[in-house]
Amino acid sequence: MSAEHDRKFFDTFMLILGILAAITIGLMVLAGMISDRTSKQYHDQDPRKVEETLARISPVARVAVAGQDNSALAPPAAAPTAAAVDLPGEQVYQQVCTACHGAAVAGAPKTGDKAAWAPRVAQGMDLLHKHALEGYQGKAGYMPPKGGRTDLSDQSVMNAVDYLVSQAK
Ligand code: HEC
Repeated sequence: MSAEHDRKFFDTFMLILGILAAITIGLMVLAGMISDRTSKQYHDQDPRKVEETLARISPVARVAVAGQDNSALAPPAAAPTAAAVDLPGEQVYQQVCTACHGAAVAGAPKTGDKAAWAPRVAQGMDLLHKHALEGYQGKAGYMPPKGGRTDLSDQSVMNAVDYLVSQAK
């Protein structure tokens, strides 16, 4: 009786185990099919991936043929070095100049302070531009060249000067 009981239990147990294993394999196959149709396609169409693949399988050397148009073989022109772009004055001011001029730090004439700016503006815009570009040691303190951001284009800094002056009017 008990041996038969054990046998029945064992059979049922193996049957359930088998069903669970079948479900697992089924889910794995299903997940693979779904991803083949969805994420894998996006991945394959990703322009960066396509570019990488093309670069990987492109021939290592190309042959110029005499008497034919070989212009496609010319080495690609060197990428132009990133020229400093001209930024609007307010943007430059917010990024750089406000550090000192925003709160009159280290003797900097405060933005919008008409009394502080009037005698400076009276010197003429050319001189203000020059002092902002090249730096300026005055009685009040030291204005670093381009406010310390020598990577900015001259025009960007001059725009910022114009912005500062416009705020003090
Ligand atoms: C590290 C602090 C600091 C930063 C940053 C700074 N300035 Fe100044 N700036 C000064 C100080 C100090 C003076 C006053 C110098 C003096 O007259 O003694 C000054 C003066 C000036 C003047 C007047 C010059 C003159 O001839 O009277 C201009 C214009 C000016 N700054 C523009 C700018 C611009 C534009 C920026 C941002 C690109 C900038 N500053 C960033 C400290 C700074």
